[in-house]
Amino acid sequence: MNTIRVLPEKVASQIAAGEIIDRPASVLRELIDNSIDAEANRIVVKIEKGGKALIRVTDNGLGMSRDDLLLCVERHATSKIETASDLYCVKSFGFRGEAIPSIASVSRMQIISRTKDQLSGHRLRIEGGKLIAIEETGAPTGTTVEAKSLFFNMPARRKFLRAIQTERDHVLDVMVRAGLPFSRINFRVEDAGKTILNLAASNGPLPRLATLMGRDVAESIIEKKEKVEGLSVSVYLAPSEFARSRGDRLFIYINSRYVRDRLVTKAVMEGYGQRLMRGQYPQAVIFVEIDPSKVDVNVHPTKQEVRFHDSRSIFQTIASTVEKAFPRSTHTFTASAQGNENFSQQKFAASVSEPAWRYSQGDGPLPHSTKPNMEEGSLVREGPQPIGQLRGTYILCQTKDGLLMVDQHAAHERIVYENLKKDFQTSQIAVQILLVPYKLELSIKEKNTVLKKMDRLSHYGIELEHFGGNTFLLRSVPALLENVEWNSFITELIAELGEDKTDEIRFLDKTLKVMACHGAIRAGHNMTQNEMAHLLEQLEEMDLPTNCPHGRPIIKHLTFYEIEKMFKRVV
Ligand SMILES: Nc1ncnc2c1ncn2[C@@H]1O[C@H](COP(=O)(O)OP(=O)(O)OP(=O)(O)O)[C@@H](O)[C@H]1O
Ligand SMILES: [Mg+2]
Repeated sequence: MNTIRVLPEKVASQIAAGEIIDRPASVLRELIDNSIDAEANRIVVKIEKGGKALIRVTDNGLGMSRDDLLLCVERHATSKIETASDLYCVKSFGFRGEAIPSIASVSRMQIISRTKDQLSGHRLRIEGGKLIAIEETGAPTGTTVEAKSLFFNMPARRKFLRAIQTERDHVLDVMVRAGLPFSRINFRVEDAGKTILNLAASNGPLPRLATLMGRDVAESIIEKKEKVEGLSVSVYLAPSEFARSRGDRLFIYINSRYVRDRLVTKAVMEGYGQRLMRGQYPQAVIFVEIDPSKVDVNVHPTKQEVRFHDSRSIFQTIASTVEKAFPRSTHTFTASAQGNENFSQQKFAASVSEPAWRYSQGDGPLPHSTKPNMEEGSLVREGPQPIGQLRGTYILCQTKDGLLMVDQHAAHERIVYENLKKDFQTSQIAVQILLVPYKLELSIKEKNTVLKKMDRLSHYGIELEHFGGNTFLLRSVPALLENVEWNSFITELIAELGEDKTDEIRFLDKTLKVMACHGAIRAGHNMTQNEMAHLLEQLEEMDLPTNCPHGRPIIKHLTFYEIEKMFKRVV
């Protein structure tokens, strides 16, 4: 006996609908896509009960004739592509001819539409996928699609809908995200007759960023555009102090389509570089305009994922646009805590691939001395004056505009890191041979890591010798590292490097970070006035004086205005 049977059309369309439509917000996303494809410049959304009872989208776009109206509720009926090859250069949001029939199969739907050439419009009613009526009616040019009682015929699905407030939030979220690239379109959302969101038409996305990210963030957004062949990237970046532990405020658009994409996310993080702490995500909006034939949008039923043909060049262009967006502040201590230009990974890669480091062994002057200047009175400084130290940890500094607090460890970590890096880049790594080699007892796991990485570490001035069993001798270290507790330095380095193979750039970066952290002065270390001044002076010379190599902020600024506000001298 046969056990396989063809499903009835109604069940098949409900299954298909389930992939695209799972809540009111996904109905809205599809309807807005259609209105944008129909070239509307005004879109009004009405919802009731968070969209569970009603979602109505009215646009002033091209509209549909009576015949098109009848066709649009059929599956795989679309005006947007004709042949299979069109699928590989889709310029519109829609192309499958599935959204309207899917919504129609799980709701009570009504569409009213009129084209500008028609004298009157038509109203079509369809319930649970069954055509009820089509009739002539008076209507303005454009289309109104209304979906009532979502999932009325699928109780199991309906049960999964959340509270009204939650569904409404999702609806608003979809609206704001979808609206961002279309600043020329006026979007309005009404809930039970009250306007809850109005995105007025404007010249660019900036006014809408405030709705998406809040005012504070929008006001400090950094913008950058970059064009290479067949690809244009515009980024709107919030400074790293607004970074979050979730990536929910990183908005990515490929040809104006909102997508979730790991490659673009990684590229943005790469561009932020050391401005971000580990595990943090920036708030940012990334618009990528790419030749449609170079991206596949037909990857996921909700079209929220894409695949790039040349993901490498996308990655590089986005990462470098983000990196270049951060201005190089001329004066660290008067500029706000924004980033400076980051070092170029490519340049860096070129220099580390040369294995022949030149060691200047101890006797000549060191290429860079990071030791804070110890001689009292030897320094005449302009600019910020240190006025004291808080808990032996923060340098307090008076500036023209107010008070600076500088985390001394983070600041020195940055200085040691960049100086070491420069030394490596110019093959000028100074090495000190330890007079008495330092004896290290390691665990078996650590021993194995060291045995594998020993040769590579020696390129960076760290000479380890296997002494038998789990014992190693540390024979030399980079001369820039002073007052380091070698045991914890080596064990942290081993833990960081781990057993896995890392490429040369990451290997060096990890090594430098551990070196910088252990070589930098600690919190709780008291400093003299001149030591503090010298540290600040060096910090000012750094490429990225605002963040330590792990992304922690170095400087916080309180302006006199903020201080006076605190004391109610100004209101
Ligand atoms: N608001 C609208 N204004 C004008 N025409 C519309 C509108 N909504 C739908 N249509 C027409 O109905 C057709 C079917 O819409 P539907 O959303 O089902 O499919 P699609 O947009 O072509 O593809 P997809 O399923 O990928 O969204 C569209 O191709 C379009 O011609
Ligand atoms: Mg569509």
